[in-house]
Amino acid sequence: MAYLLGLDIGTSGAKALLIDETGRVLAAATTEYPLHTPRPFWSEQDPDDWWTASVQSLSLVLSQSGVRGGDVAGIGLTGQMHGLVLLDQHGAALRPAILWNDQRTEAECAEITNRLGFARLLELTGNAVLPGFTAPKILWVRRHEPQVYAQVARFLLPKDYLRFRLTGELASDVSDASGTSLFDVRQRTWSREMFEALQIPRDWAPRCIESSEISGGLTNEAATMIGLPAGLPVVGGAGDQAAQAIGTGLVAAGLVSATLGTSGVVFAPTARPVIEPQGRLHAFCHAAPGMWHVMGVMLAAGGSLRWLRDRLCQPEIEEAKRLGVDPYEVMTRDAATVPPGAEGLLFLPYLSGERTPHPDPHARGCFVGLTMRHTKAHLTRAVLEGVTFGLRDCLALVQAQGIQPTEVRASGGGARSALWRQIMADVFGLPVATVSSTEGAAFGAALLAGVGVGVWRDVAAACAQTIKVTDRVTPREENLERYARLYRLYRELYPALKPTFDELSS
Ligand code: XUL
Repeated sequence: MAYLLGLDIGTSGAKALLIDETGRVLAAATTEYPLHTPRPFWSEQDPDDWWTASVQSLSLVLSQSGVRGGDVAGIGLTGQMHGLVLLDQHGAALRPAILWNDQRTEAECAEITNRLGFARLLELTGNAVLPGFTAPKILWVRRHEPQVYAQVARFLLPKDYLRFRLTGELASDVSDASGTSLFDVRQRTWSREMFEALQIPRDWAPRCIESSEISGGLTNEAATMIGLPAGLPVVGGAGDQAAQAIGTGLVAAGLVSATLGTSGVVFAPTARPVIEPQGRLHAFCHAAPGMWHVMGVMLAAGGSLRWLRDRLCQPEIEEAKRLGVDPYEVMTRDAATVPPGAEGLLFLPYLSGERTPHPDPHARGCFVGLTMRHTKAHLTRAVLEGVTFGLRDCLALVQAQGIQPTEVRASGGGARSALWRQIMADVFGLPVATVSSTEGAAFGAALLAGVGVGVWRDVAAACAQTIKVTDRVTPREENLERYARLYRLYRELYPALKPTFDELSS
C-alpha cells in the first residue's frame, strides 16, 4: 500500500494529511500561526512560522498514523495563493510575506493597468490585476522599501517557499503562478513581456512545472527533521483553490463547485482558457495538464457568518458549549425557523471589500430592511442568504461564459450545514451535491503527489478512484420565485450604495 502526504500552507495554519491509495485519510494535523496586521488592510506572515508549523504537522501525522516514514511515496504542496516571499541571494527571506488578502497595492494595480492597457493585460495574463495579486506587491516593495528591493534575488509563492525549505528547489506550478499577474495563462509559462513591462528581472521567478510533476526530493536535513526518507519526491502541487477542486473531484469541463470557507469560491474547470471580457472572473491554469479553470472569489463568505458569531452570538456560543455542538449548529438551527427571505431582510456580504463581481476594496457589509420584528435568527438567515446571492453573482458570470452546470458541488466548512445547502439549491435553482472527501486542498495535494509518483495514471483517475458523491439536495419549487425576486433586489443594492461606500472609506 502506498501512502501520500498533502501539505496546505493556509492563512491560519499548516495542515498536513496522510492518505492511502484508496483515498482513506489516516491522519490529519493543523498547526496554527499568527497573521500580522501592522497597518489597517495590511496582512503579513513570517515564512519561518510556515516552516516550523509544517515540520510539526508533518511529524504529527506520521506519529498519529503509525505509518513508517519509509512507506510514504510522495508529498504534494498547496497553499494560500498570491502571497509574496522575497529571498536574498543566500535564500534568506528579506521581509515578512505579503498575503493574498493584503489591500495595500491599489496604486500599483492602477499603475500596471495603465502601463499595459487593460486589453493587453488581459491578453498577456488572462486576468485583471487585483490588489491581492503578486506583481503589484513587488512594485510596492520597490517603491516603499528600496533597501529591501536592492537585495532581492528571487521571489516565491507561499507553498513554494516550503518546497524550497524541503528540497532546496526553486519551483512553482502553473495553477499558483497564474495568480501572480506575471504568467501567460494561455501558454502555461511565465510572460516575458510582463516582466519586461514591469521591469522585474525575469530570473527572479522560479521555474514553473505542471502540478503533478516531481519538483525535487527531500534534503537530508528536512528528511531527518520530519522522519521521512531523504530524496522523497515532492510534486509541483497547486494553489489552494485548484487543489481544493481536485480534492472534490472537479476535473471535467461542465462541473462547477461552490466552496464556503472564509472566502467563497465558484470554480469551473474548462478545456481551454476562458477569459471573461471584463476580467471579472479569474482565468487560471488548472492542476491537471491541458485544463484551465474560471473562478469567482468572494472575500467574506463563511467569514461573514464568523463575524456574526464572534460579534453577536455569545449566548449561542454558550448554548453550543452546553449541548456539546458547534456554535454554527445553534445559529443555523434558529435561522431555519425563519422563512426564506428573512421577512424582508437583505445582507450584503462585503465585510472585507469584494473581488467578484465587484472588485472594490471600499465595498462594505450591510443589512438592508431591518424592522422591529427582526431577531438574531433573521440576521443569521439573511447572512446565509446574502452570501449565497454573492455566490450566485459568481455563478451567473460563469454561466455567461457558456458553462451550464446541471448541479453544483458544495464544499468547505459552510457546506456542512444542511440549511445552507438547501438555500444554495433554492438560490441557484440547481441541485447541490456533496462528496465523500471533506479534507479539501490538502487532500487534492496528496492526490497530485500520487499521480506524480505513479500511484494513479492521471488526475482524473485519482479523483475517480477516491471521491464519490454522497448527498444531493434539490431546489424547492415553492422557494424559487421568492429567491429570484430577492436576488433582483440584492443586485440593485451595490450600484446604489457604491458612492456611499467610497465616501465612508475616504
Ligand atoms: C484565491 C485566493 C484565496 C487564497 C487564500 O484566488 O485568493 O483562495 O488562495 O485561500
